[in-house]
Amino acid sequence: MKPLILRGFFTLLLLQILEASSGWSVAGWRQSHLRVNKHSSRQDIVTYDEYSLLIHGERVMIFSGEWHPYRLPVADLYLDVFQKIRSMGFTAVSFYVFWGLLEPKRGEISFEGIRDLQPFFDAAKEADIYLIARPGPYINAETTAGGFPGWGTTVPGLWRTSNQTYVDAYSGYIKAIGKVLADNEITKGGPIILVQSENEYTSFEEPYTEDFEYEKILMQQLIDAGITVPIIHNDASPSGHYTSVDIWGYDSYPVKFDCSHPTHWDPSSIQEYLWDSHMKHAPKVPNAIYEYQGGSYDGWGGSGYDTCLELTGAEFTRIFTRSEVGMSATILNLYMIFGGTNWGNLGHPGVYTSYDYGAAIGEDRTLREKYYELKLLANFLAVSPAYYTTRPQNPDSLVGAFTGNAALKVAQALDVVGNKTSFYVIRHSDISSTATDTYKLTLPTSFGNLTIPSIGDSLKLQGRDSKVHVVDYEAGSTSLLYSTGEIATWATVEGKDVIVLYGNSGEVHETAFKLKSNTAGPKVVSGDGTIKAKLLHQGAVVLQYTTTGQTVVQFGSAILYIVDRTGAFQFWALSKHDSKTPVIVKGGHLMRTGILNDDASQLTISGDFNSTAILEIIAPASVSKVVLNGADLSVTKTSYGTLTATKEVNLPRAELPNLTGLNWKTADTKPAMGVVLYAGDYGYHTGNILWRAYFSSSGSAMGFQIWINGGSAFAYSIWLDSTFIGSWEGDATHAGYDAVWPFPSKLSTGSKHILTILQDHMGYEEDWTAASEEFKSTRGPVTYSFPGSDETKIDTWKVTGNLGGESYVDKARGPLNEGGLYGERQGWHLPGFDDVSWAAGKPTDGVSAPGVAFYRTNFNLDIPSGVDYPLSIAVTNSTINPHYRAQFYVNGYQFGKYVNHIGPQRVFHVPQGIFNYQGQNTLAVSLWAAKPGGAKLDSLQLQFNAQIESPITVQNTPAPAWSARPGAY
Ligand code: GAL
Repeated sequence: MKPLILRGFFTLLLLQILEASSGWSVAGWRQSHLRVNKHSSRQDIVTYDEYSLLIHGERVMIFSGEWHPYRLPVADLYLDVFQKIRSMGFTAVSFYVFWGLLEPKRGEISFEGIRDLQPFFDAAKEADIYLIARPGPYINAETTAGGFPGWGTTVPGLWRTSNQTYVDAYSGYIKAIGKVLADNEITKGGPIILVQSENEYTSFEEPYTEDFEYEKILMQQLIDAGITVPIIHNDASPSGHYTSVDIWGYDSYPVKFDCSHPTHWDPSSIQEYLWDSHMKHAPKVPNAIYEYQGGSYDGWGGSGYDTCLELTGAEFTRIFTRSEVGMSATILNLYMIFGGTNWGNLGHPGVYTSYDYGAAIGEDRTLREKYYELKLLANFLAVSPAYYTTRPQNPDSLVGAFTGNAALKVAQALDVVGNKTSFYVIRHSDISSTATDTYKLTLPTSFGNLTIPSIGDSLKLQGRDSKVHVVDYEAGSTSLLYSTGEIATWATVEGKDVIVLYGNSGEVHETAFKLKSNTAGPKVVSGDGTIKAKLLHQGAVVLQYTTTGQTVVQFGSAILYIVDRTGAFQFWALSKHDSKTPVIVKGGHLMRTGILNDDASQLTISGDFNSTAILEIIAPASVSKVVLNGADLSVTKTSYGTLTATKEVNLPRAELPNLTGLNWKTADTKPAMGVVLYAGDYGYHTGNILWRAYFSSSGSAMGFQIWINGGSAFAYSIWLDSTFIGSWEGDATHAGYDAVWPFPSKLSTGSKHILTILQDHMGYEEDWTAASEEFKSTRGPVTYSFPGSDETKIDTWKVTGNLGGESYVDKARGPLNEGGLYGERQGWHLPGFDDVSWAAGKPTDGVSAPGVAFYRTNFNLDIPSGVDYPLSIAVTNSTINPHYRAQFYVNGYQFGKYVNHIGPQRVFHVPQGIFNYQGQNTLAVSLWAAKPGGAKLDSLQLQFNAQIESPITVQNTPAPAWSARPGAY
């Protein structure tokens, strides 16, 4: 039969027009195949079987993103991040808890200040996000000591084993955090649905092996603390460790972490064996990937997060993340979805201040293309319940499958419960390929084997791309025999199945609909796309279309939006887990919420806009009033019943102060180091450390040899009495450095001297390999001697770090924020410190000799409400006297550690709420010049990263002002 062409408003009535049925139907993703469920006897709200998780008896796709509350110390921004994730179609968030931050002193657990987790739980709940809690005790996470507390470095016995000293060390924490998590479980009305025990308990220092006793003890402790939801574990690879948990799963980072070659993908880097490994180790639970690559960390001297974003960007998402659909992953957590910041010394030495991670949501909470790309996939799976009971059909024979083209791989995941719907994931056999391959699919359908496209032509896979084609897919009461155009989302709105189909711009696709006796023919109601239609003899209509721009087709009880990829990015499916009233909004930078009132007469929506936007709202006909971000929106009805509106956006101007034009005060911290009263060689786990060595000269010492450890990119400077004798300025690779520092002249016999050493502590190493004790890596001098004089001995060593050590002073900002610089111990970084007696001086003038100077200034910000204008402190590379490091403190929070000659970070994002957007701010800078000649900041300025109209409201994080610091020296 020759295809018929539909153009413009030309209507082809194939069959009789269907009466539009009234009333709401349930959003697709809530329709579930209920089967016998396994659940722990501890509760029956979160259950599971071999296919998926069920919550309150309904199958749910756990498409989850990882982010860490401790990396965003502004409680009021939690909701913003959760809403952004929810609007992607994600259902969950996974998060670590950082033990070391909560129990910085053994036995003293604190949830004070930025450590309070309740606002995080409350915001998740408000945003309709489930939580996967990962309390460790070991977390890795590029966090200092992998999350262990600093005091752990001096506790003997093997950590991450059943060694009693270790079990004793963490038990108090697990009890405390276990209770907090238990109180916020879904069983008690909270958002937590899963709790992870340990982290990647996969690699063991020889001769040690997996410690089953430790696994058992830890799990029991979680249960004793009140955890009733399933306990999970993430094997680093699917190798079968810690399988005794309820739902075992694994991690996968297919392109690893080398951002310096951002276009390089190993041709076979998709780990196609993951399904077989899953079946080998845990066939009775869902295929759970607790960490799937969502970006990459970057280290000192690295290539920067732009390159990580390129490595793991939109193309990566299309291909790699989609590949998991072919493997029936129904618990899929992306590490990270929002990275945040390693503010206040919380990172391990392998990372710098930004933990942007090249994630879908930037460190400054802005949205990347990858965000929209993930949104397409997650929204699709959220409305595809048939996916939740699939099984891969050809995991070991992908090449050429269903196309006969060896350049292509196609994986079929079949709903083996409904026994009808299939998902076909196509990609290049060599996933690094940028070629264009054409193909036809031969697929089994309920109408027998079909060769697709049915209306001539062929399909195309262009460059680094992948697609999910469906067969026998239900969208409400509409049955899709197949669709090569991908489904962005669908919802049944007032009896009409609104289906959004997309492809890359200019691609040819087909969607075939099974006809019911009374199906009305397809009619183009908007747009100028050309649609070809063909009737299959079994009773289906195939539509062939080109995905360019937007064409709206009415077809029986369905409304089809046929759009290109960027058009599809603009659709927002707004519904809550418990809502029966889906609303779809097209347009806007980000749509957050859409709520209908009880009689569906008013729709209240909220969202973000970076420019004037045309909105199209798909809602029940009864809606007569639309309120957007608190203001009435004037809407017009389209011929096919949707509402359109123009949302005017006028971004208000906001001035930023010129930082270098402000009045700055400065004080030199070096001579003021004074007498070190605080002796002791432990208790300092963060920031700068100061050492003093007292000795009497034997008369022949030529210099001082010392090997100091501080972690990658660390530095040290040494003074003999008040004379500078040298610095190791640091590089990206040395975690320790050994050198001889000559004395300026020979010391006279019997003369008394003091060596003063300032060093950087870049955080403790992680402890990824259990029982390796790597996190106990020392920070400080390892060996020392006086070349030329074996007899010269150090009489006394003294050390100091942050004021109070483990009994740190600043309970609001937590134990890691301040280090041992004299200025930090005195609280010079805090707002309200009286610097009236200080001299005038700017960090851009700097110092002319090696040493540490502190700078302070105050300024007001007046950034209007109703916008989200993320701010950063930016510096430029100094090429003259490059060897220095600076720390930036905003209202007392250390939000930047800048190492000029190592980099790569030169823009330091500081969130609203740390910056006071409507009032006074204190900016302090410490500047440590490592070499003769001193150093200065080349430039220093504030800049906006983005300007967006947004309904977010942000209370400042409390920033307690300076008060007298008893015992500060
Ligand atoms: C995983 C680990 C995470 C994180 C990630 C890399 O191995 O579980 O905590 O470190 O690697 O970013």
